[in-house]
Amino acid sequence: MLVANKDYRTIWVNDTHLPDVQIIDQRHLPHRFVVETLSTYKQMATAIKEMHLRGAGLIGVAGAFGVYLAYRDAMYRNNSVEFIQSAISEILNTRPTAVNLKWAIEIVTSRVENIEAIDEKVTKALEVAKELANLDAESCRMIGVNGLPIIEEISRKKNGETVNILTHCNAGWLAFTDYGSALSPIYHAHRKGIKVHVWVDETRPRNQGAALTTWELLNEGVPHTLIVDNVGGHLMQNGMVDLVITGADRIASNGDTANKIGTYLKALAAHDNGIPFYVAAPTSTFDFALETGLGKIPIEMRTGDEVKYINGLLNDKVVDVLICPTQTQVANYGFDVTPSRLIKAFITEKGIIAPNTDEITKLNC
Ligand code: MRU
Repeated sequence: MLVANKDYRTIWVNDTHLPDVQIIDQRHLPHRFVVETLSTYKQMATAIKEMHLRGAGLIGVAGAFGVYLAYRDAMYRNNSVEFIQSAISEILNTRPTAVNLKWAIEIVTSRVENIEAIDEKVTKALEVAKELANLDAESCRMIGVNGLPIIEEISRKKNGETVNILTHCNAGWLAFTDYGSALSPIYHAHRKGIKVHVWVDETRPRNQGAALTTWELLNEGVPHTLIVDNVGGHLMQNGMVDLVITGADRIASNGDTANKIGTYLKALAAHDNGIPFYVAAPTSTFDFALETGLGKIPIEMRTGDEVKYINGLLNDKVVDVLICPTQTQVANYGFDVTPSRLIKAFITEKGIIAPNTDEITKLNC
């Protein structure tokens, strides 16, 4: 996507033989646009764990590039099998909820494992990571193409009046290689001249909505309004939301969906108010090995400091502000699971999929 007239993806490599990996360091947005260079698998593992980059699709692609860096690091360690295995498992264990990480790592390792020479392994791992980055971007583009008719239909029913869409967290291009999942249909609609307006949940505690989704929408010129996380129900009761589109971090075979904490409450409110609740995600986010999601999808617990402190800009300086007594106990659940019965459909790169096991299983072909 364009940032200051330059076309960016969220992750790329520089144009050299066995290059370093570069990412947009999202911790600095929306205040500063910072590019970080990652030269070792350790740096990549830290970038994923500490959320220099985040979002299910991007975590997966970053994991793939992390495997490439692990093989590259191994070149200087006599191609040590133990080193490679421990590096890959370290990357795999950085974040537990988004299944894209496991998906991508397994693809790279399976395509590399039968190669003998370490330099050929490195070259192949890089080639596969690049392929997965392109696949992720193309899937997200197609999610936009497939989701567009949903917005067009509502716009028609409203005689061209503005379609109000609520979204949670950031499932835009920053959460993938490009385009995004939940935001991709919105970008497609906006570019086609359909009037849209987005209600952006701030998404405490890390405020991905406030910091990232607003920044993306502003960049693209899409009208939007930032709201605190508890406003959605009120808006829905008052006819101010036409549809909800969120992303997903892991979808079980029956359609139960893990997404950023608070998504379940939005789905409940949408259901109670007869508002369609869509989940947009590429096939790489479906965990076909998992029959159901409730109680089964691992929910990431993050540090309490993310809840106790709010990060923001004060007098041109980025600061963390304590918002509760220092000794307060905190529980920081990163994700929740929305049962499939509350989901109208999945918007995927392969089309619109009903939230049931039969339809979801067909995606795995
Ligand atoms: O913790 P994050 O920022 O990595 O969480 C991921 C998300 O941004 C959301 O849950 C998103 O809606 C799905 S990721 C495309």
